Amino acid sequence: MKLLEGKVVIVTGAGGGIGRDFALAMAAEGAKVVVNDLGSSVSGEGKDAGPAQKVVDEIKAKGGAAVASTDSVADWEAANRIVKTALDAFGRVDCVVNNAGILRDRFFFNMSVEEWRSVIDVHLNGSFYVARAAAPYFKSQNSGCYVNMTSTSGLIGNFGQANYSAAKLGIIGLSKSMALDMAKYHVRSNCIAPFAWSRMIGTIPSDTPEQQARLEKIKRMDTAKIAPLAVYLASDLAEGVTGQIFGVRANEIFLFSQNRPLRSVHRAGGWTPESIAEQAIPAMRAHFYALDRSQDVFSWDPI
Ligand code: NAI
Repeated sequence: MKLLEGKVVIVTGAGGGIGRDFALAMAAEGAKVVVNDLGSSVSGEGKDAGPAQKVVDEIKAKGGAAVASTDSVADWEAANRIVKTALDAFGRVDCVVNNAGILRDRFFFNMSVEEWRSVIDVHLNGSFYVARAAAPYFKSQNSGCYVNMTSTSGLIGNFGQANYSAAKLGIIGLSKSMALDMAKYHVRSNCIAPFAWSRMIGTIPSDTPEQQARLEKIKRMDTAKIAPLAVYLASDLAEGVTGQIFGVRANEIFLFSQNRPLRSVHRAGGWTPESIAEQAIPAMRAHFYALDRSQDVFSWDPI
């Protein structure tokens, strides 16, 4: 018996990159897959039915079951159509993988409202829309799961990605809320922060020998390496695994921490701005976080 036999999975943004490997791996494990992809550019412009259909053809050529969907996750009506595609084609839905994404990188001080909105719309609003559209079906069948793609740009930080970091950290809150609210219906929700060589990170500069060396290392992070964890999370093997944040980078798998109070200071008579400066901050300063970026924390080469 294959791991996802009888299950219907929606993978958004599955026309290329990480999502394509998710769709292929899930189909190989017996899932019937809705391959959703708008077919836009990395920055979210344009539309092309080709990528989603191509992945469907690949799955069918290997004897699997799949159907294409070219609706945008960033629109509530369209997100409902994505879920309806699963119901019309396969009669049910068991897992939503919120993977579709775009980038509009720009330093915060130059970022336009349009750049902010479009990235929030696809990542954060899109994850909510598709997940929410599937929720009534999960609730009534008393089962289901969500796999939500986040990023260390949100968990840790990165230059020029205020829109993307905010959206990806928003997805952490969304995923935890879905895990809490849907637990009584046996619905699970987890996040994956991937590291993989895809067109999305293909714009990294390669002008100097150092940059070229770094790029070669990044290219070793195969998109297909993320898929086993997504398949596991979509399967019944992951029973009881919910509300977690995982990371995958080549052959490494990480479990991320979640925010909890780190230090506390107490002053019986209450605080003034001056006493905060004199006592509270010195007491806590040793535990402040540096202005780290993702690459400062993941400072070793992918294994
Ligand atoms: P990708 O650009 O290869 O794939 C994203 C796909 O989403 C594209 O095929 C695109 O057409 C589709 N898409 C964009 N807007 C859409 C919309 N409105 N509706 C439906 N589909 C839409 O990128 P990649 O690298 O495969 O990214 C997959 C996910 O992983 C994204 O959520 C990304 O933010 C996340 N991620 C990737 C990292 C990496 O190292 N590649 C790092 C951290 C997070």
